[in-house]
Amino acid sequence: HGTLGEVWDEEMSSSMLGKRLRKVVQNYQAMNKYGVPLQTRGGAGGGGGPKRSGPELLCQLKGRVGVTTLTPEHKPFSSLLWATLLPPRPLTSDLGPFKRCAVVSSAGSLKNSGLGKEIDSHDAVLRFNSAPTVGFVKDVGTKTTVRLINSQVMASDDHRFLSSSLYSAGILVAWDPAPYSSDLGEWYNKTDYPIFLQYQKYRRLHPQQPFYILHPRVEWQLWDTIQANMAEAIQRNPPSSGLLGTVLMMSVCEVVHVYEFLPSRRKTELCHYYQRFYDAACTLGAYHPLLYEKNLVKRMNQGPDRHIFTHGRVTLPGFNSFNC
Ligand code: C5P
Repeated sequence: HGTLGEVWDEEMSSSMLGKRLRKVVQNYQAMNKYGVPLQTRGGAGGGGGPKRSGPELLCQLKGRVGVTTLTPEHKPFSSLLWATLLPPRPLTSDLGPFKRCAVVSSAGSLKNSGLGKEIDSHDAVLRFNSAPTVGFVKDVGTKTTVRLINSQVMASDDHRFLSSSLYSAGILVAWDPAPYSSDLGEWYNKTDYPIFLQYQKYRRLHPQQPFYILHPRVEWQLWDTIQANMAEAIQRNPPSSGLLGTVLMMSVCEVVHVYEFLPSRRKTELCHYYQRFYDAACTLGAYHPLLYEKNLVKRMNQGPDRHIFTHGRVTLPGFNSFNC
């Protein structure tokens, strides 16, 4: 009671993982599905250089990552009939600005957290994929301003994306991993999951709900920033939804509280607060460079470690709240 235990170690590296996870990370590192060029590993100002401070990292992130979404003007969509389904303006022109925002990771450690009221006290709340509020209100709250969903959730039969009421609250933002250096045309013909088909179907069924598609450039700008600050080669796959959503909210909010991205004293191998499935990979990463994302977030955190320990809460300033 009242004692401060261990919180996320910002020097976490793959060597500190168990044998199984280490192997999975190595495999993804070698696979390079998205054709990430070798020279971005380490590189100028990168892994070899001096360690950046929290404020320096925040400035680098602000300078290098520009959150934007597809509009009907983007090629090749401009020549496709369904492009009129895309919002006329990018998300950041339509959303906010907000004062206090909450990003709710889907981590198992949210279970029995009692954080629902605190989360709902924010001006805007971002949730991920198929994370429910119904049945979990005490721990995660009820408010949903934005839901960030990946193309896998959109395409899978189990999630009933087109018909489930889970997705009907708030603004939807979808994303799908594109090849590292592709233009949008290349991606359009080579998505991981059929994001565009599902987008069109959803928009026709729910024409009143705002629905954006993240520009895939954002993922790789963010990936470059993570790799540039790590001494070792990270997985050559896009960052997790968790970090994408955090940066999205930093673009439209004064202050962002991220919940249970850095695990609290409730840390657990339970993957999601809403499912009975256990796997340490959910918290430490396998496909996503999640370990390294968490190292950076720990360094950028402006709140005390105590808040991580008790609330799993990290405090990050919005991009318009600091000068570089
Ligand atoms: O699993 P899903 O991607 O839907 O979860 C949303 C985000 O929450 C993840 O991308 C990850 O950043 C974060 N998360 C986590 N630890 C977990 C589960 C999710 O950090 N155990």
